[in-house]
Amino acid sequence: MDKIKVILDVDPGHDDMVAILLAAKHPRLDLRGITVVAGNQTLDKTVQNALRICTHAGIDVPVYAGMSRPLLRDQVVSTVHGESGLDGVELGPPARQVEEQHAVDFIIEEARKCHKELVLIPVGPLTNIAMALLREPRIVEGIKEIVLMGGACGQGNITPSAEFNIFVDPEAAQIVFTSGLPVTMVGLDATNQAVVYPPVLERIRGIGSRVSKMVVDSMLAYGAAYKALGDWEGPVLHDPCAVAYVIDPSVLKVKKAWVDVETARGLTYGRTVCDYSETAGKPANAQVAVGIDHKKLWDLLIYALEQD
Ligand code: RIB
Ligand code: CA
Repeated sequence: MDKIKVILDVDPGHDDMVAILLAAKHPRLDLRGITVVAGNQTLDKTVQNALRICTHAGIDVPVYAGMSRPLLRDQVVSTVHGESGLDGVELGPPARQVEEQHAVDFIIEEARKCHKELVLIPVGPLTNIAMALLREPRIVEGIKEIVLMGGACGQGNITPSAEFNIFVDPEAAQIVFTSGLPVTMVGLDATNQAVVYPPVLERIRGIGSRVSKMVVDSMLAYGAAYKALGDWEGPVLHDPCAVAYVIDPSVLKVKKAWVDVETARGLTYGRTVCDYSETAGKPANAQVAVGIDHKKLWDLLIYALEQD
């Protein structure tokens, strides 16, 4: 079975780190490159985090710097991942430099090599993806689908209405959802179920490798931040859910829906409005993840981490 060609677009971020490990180490995927965007932290920090993660984990995949701020709105960073974007995770200096080519140009270049076979997996704000679609609309001919971590049909997390990745760049998200490409929205309705409870953490620790230790250390730090947020019993691995879906779609339960993004400023700015029953008279333009198969998700992640 041919490997699936993917580009992972990240804003590391503790859960982005696990998404990078999963995408780079699972044999089902051909990770063509890692593109980085401003999101959890500023672009200089998210790029360095991506490079350091790859160095520490022995991942030989090119890293490309992308957009340093949202298309239109003011910049927003997350507090959950700390000042560095990876607080609590001790990684050495990167052994490789970021690529000269801009992330947007890399996405376009890779898409041009493909015919409906490239899968884009953005797990941060959608600024890079939107810019690629704006700069070269014909890339849709090379892209099979976009499987993104972001959005929520229910409660948001950065505001009551909006999920962080979408809230950071609502206009970019709207460009993606209205691109005409097949979009799978792996949002909070599913990813909030991906809590790393102690038995899962102990399975990861039991792998006993340098990479599994990095993940455990990261989850302990990220978990402390989540517990400080309120009634969370552990860290939530949002981003790996999107990668896991590309590897094995049965990991998630999905429903077709029409999805659009609120771009009017105010209480619901950045909300993904999801319509499962054509109430708005608009046909489905996406599928939305509404549940996860916990066993499949964790088995798949641990299998990838064991490929060290
Ligand atoms: O809302 C969760 C998303 O925001 C994840 O991608 C996490 O990394 C943060 O970027
Ligand atoms: Ca992220």
